[in-house]
Amino acid sequence: MNLFPLVRPLLYLVSPETAHNLSLWGLAAGLGPKFEVPRDPALAVTLWGKHFANPLGLAAGYDKDGRVIGPMFDLGLGFVEVGTITPRPQPGNPKPRLFRLDEDGGVINRLGFNSAGAEAAAKNLAAWRARGRPGILGVNIGKNKDSTDAAADYGAGARRLGVYADYLVINISSPNTPGLRDLQAVAELKTLLGAVADGLAALKGAKPPVLVKIAPDLDDEALADIAALARAGDMDGLIISNTTIARPGDLRSRDRNEAGGLSGRPLFAPSTRVLAQCWRETGGTVPLVGVGGVGSAEDAYAKIRAGASLVGVYSCLVFEGPALVPRIVEGLLRLMRKDGFERIADAVGADHR
Ligand SMILES: Cc1cc2nc3c(=O)[nH]c(=O)nc-3n(C[C@H](O)[C@H](O)[C@H](O)COP(=O)(O)O)c2cc1C
Repeated sequence: MNLFPLVRPLLYLVSPETAHNLSLWGLAAGLGPKFEVPRDPALAVTLWGKHFANPLGLAAGYDKDGRVIGPMFDLGLGFVEVGTITPRPQPGNPKPRLFRLDEDGGVINRLGFNSAGAEAAAKNLAAWRARGRPGILGVNIGKNKDSTDAAADYGAGARRLGVYADYLVINISSPNTPGLRDLQAVAELKTLLGAVADGLAALKGAKPPVLVKIAPDLDDEALADIAALARAGDMDGLIISNTTIARPGDLRSRDRNEAGGLSGRPLFAPSTRVLAQCWRETGGTVPLVGVGGVGSAEDAYAKIRAGASLVGVYSCLVFEGPALVPRIVEGLLRLMRKDGFERIADAVGADHR
């Protein structure tokens, strides 16, 4: 049963971060809904040799420590990305650090990688793996705020957590860790990728593909540089995008000028533009994950047509509740059929043809 319509007014009475923690607690306690979504092979996606039941997943930042992976899959998602996980535990920034922009359908956060650390997360991920349930698990890693060696942190994350990951994400695009986004420069990124490869080399068995998550605020040149690296095979995919430090002029909510990263509705257009640009720069040769402001099946489908093989969602779940997941998955099937596509994979990048 979906309790969200009942508890939503209560969640709006408390601070956004308390609401977030209550929702995690509820899910962990088994109070989350279980939705049936279409198990249609037309919606299935195969990437990096992995089978995604459908292309919709949870973006990073909701389940930072991997506490509610099973309950998230029960919503009908094709994949769940946990993290960002830092090597050592850290508290993140002082509160308040999470703001709901109700009038704009947006969220501003400056959490600053609050993380239980890699050891605690590894326990959670191992417990989920031990249950043998299906579902593609993404593991998103970052660096500690006080670390002086970013590459060592990403290498350590890969070494400790890579074994649980169906795909691994190098997050270098959160605006809330000083200097983090500078790691998107080609020289730094190459160093990080090298450290991650070394970390993964220590693992026995198959290595997960490595994706890089980028900011929507990169200029054309920086984006072209990263796309060229991706095209050259230095990484296995790109996630586009993280939150933005920009503030569109038409925001109306009281908290619109809070510092941090903006997500949700106002991010849809800019992040989809960067996604399309990445598709063009990579000639459609690199798997792209479209994230930013997805709040309907139409939005998710627009990301796919712009070049996304997979679509991530977070902020709009805050406003729409978990039933957004089956609405999007069902709607995708309808929209692709309307356009005459037999399989969702055939719609990827359709806008560019
Ligand atoms: C509260 C909050 C926390 C987030 N934390 C992370 C994080 O730890 N790591 C990360 O890569 N992205 C994080 N994100 C960014 C989301 O994964 C996503 O890229 C962004 O919010 C755009 O998608 P959305 O508009 O659907 O939320 C966070 C977003 C929000 C709203």
